[in-house]
Amino acid sequence: MARFTLPRDIYHGKGALEALKTFEGKRAIICTGGGSMKRGGFLQKVEDYLKEAGMETELFEGIEPDPSVETVMRGAEAMSKFQPDWIVAIGGGSPIDAAKAMWIKYEYPETTFEDMCKVFGLPKLRTKAKFCAISSTSGTATEVTAFSIITDYQKGIKYPIADFEITPDVAIVDPELAHTMPQKLVAHTGMDAITHAVEAYVSTANCAYTDPLAIHAIEMIMNTLVKSYNGDMDARDEMHDAQCLAGMAFSNALLGIVHSMAHKTGAAFADLGAHIIHGAANAMYLPKVIAFNAKDPVAKQRYGVIADYMHLGGSNDDEKVKLLIDYLRKMNDDLNIPHSINHYGADGLPAEQGFVPENIFLERLHDIAANAILDACTGSNPRQPSQEEMEKLLKCCYYDTEVDF
Ligand SMILES: NC(=O)c1ccc[n+]([C@@H]2O[C@H](COP(=O)([O-])OP(=O)(O)OC[C@H]3O[C@@H](n4cnc5c(N)ncnc54)[C@H](O)[C@@H]3O)[C@@H](O)[C@H]2O)c1
Ligand SMILES: [Zn+2]
Repeated sequence: MARFTLPRDIYHGKGALEALKTFEGKRAIICTGGGSMKRGGFLQKVEDYLKEAGMETELFEGIEPDPSVETVMRGAEAMSKFQPDWIVAIGGGSPIDAAKAMWIKYEYPETTFEDMCKVFGLPKLRTKAKFCAISSTSGTATEVTAFSIITDYQKGIKYPIADFEITPDVAIVDPELAHTMPQKLVAHTGMDAITHAVEAYVSTANCAYTDPLAIHAIEMIMNTLVKSYNGDMDARDEMHDAQCLAGMAFSNALLGIVHSMAHKTGAAFADLGAHIIHGAANAMYLPKVIAFNAKDPVAKQRYGVIADYMHLGGSNDDEKVKLLIDYLRKMNDDLNIPHSINHYGADGLPAEQGFVPENIFLERLHDIAANAILDACTGSNPRQPSQEEMEKLLKCCYYDTEVDF
């Protein structure tokens, strides 16, 4: 038996934020990040609309990018003091993901972070509060997904929490929130979205319910991402929907090893002063993983279908896979994203000398590969890599060399 789960309501389009006025409840805690939502005036609107709905509100702000276990625990404490019956998370993937994990701890105070990470092992939520997610970036689609990514900084590892219990009750996909995104954020989150769609389409858990969402998202992203990056706001509006469709697909079809590698490299070099930003990691690794996965005949054929939908040409699947890889690499160039870790600067832009030195990368390679294999996203990848293959693949992502195994 398969399951396909989405939020009960998805309000989308300009002005969708006003849906908050119709919510029923007594107390809403609003969870948000570092200030972009306040500066844009959106936080004030959320408070006003919830008050108009007759609710008392409290703010939990300052959730950092790539949120930590500690932040989750602090937020859960604030929730248990305030006793909200609505959790309203607004911002990028980081504050929404953190709020999802806080929700688990609020409902079940005894739960440890290790308990949360047992894939599809959460107890029933919604005994205390319902959850509304309002996304301000066009990438993670966490507003509709069953996932939350929390970083354990002691271990330098990102852990996905995965369970349909944390699929929000309500998602608000209002494109106006994405208008204030700086260019680099558009680029990174957009490549995250296309990676979601491509990985969902070739995942071993793909099905007739997820395929149309994934393939349509790919087509929309192809037509809008670079335009949005270059300041076309109509294209940006479409991107906000496209990333959400990709999220609906991958929340149910799951992902693959591009994400496993992004999760396990993301914070692995945090001691050197920077992260490999999630979307940029995906953008660099996706072409390499396609080459690796295309050795699986079913995956190769499905990449061919993607290339056909993108009208890339090619007379057989090998040619189509090659054209798809070339197209994605060209997108990285258009979006000023490096192709490999050795050229990934501390600011996420291409650099002659990246922030991860070769010797440190090689020192940590074994453990990163082992952790990537254990990541929750590896199970649904069309080809299961051995330790040796994962190390080779990561090396190709470091040096930007051809994947020929
Ligand atoms: N839950 C999921 O299904 C899922 C999927 C993919 C990635 N993730 C996770 O999500 C996180 C990344 O989320 P993200 O890429 O959305 O970025 P983010 O939430 O980390 O935000 C990045 C920065 O952008 C700013 N920002 C956000 N929206 C803005 C706007 N509209 N205008 C101006 N600035 C804005 C934030 O303040 C922050 O400084 C990572 O931890 C990643 O692992 C989760
Ligand atoms: Zn992602």
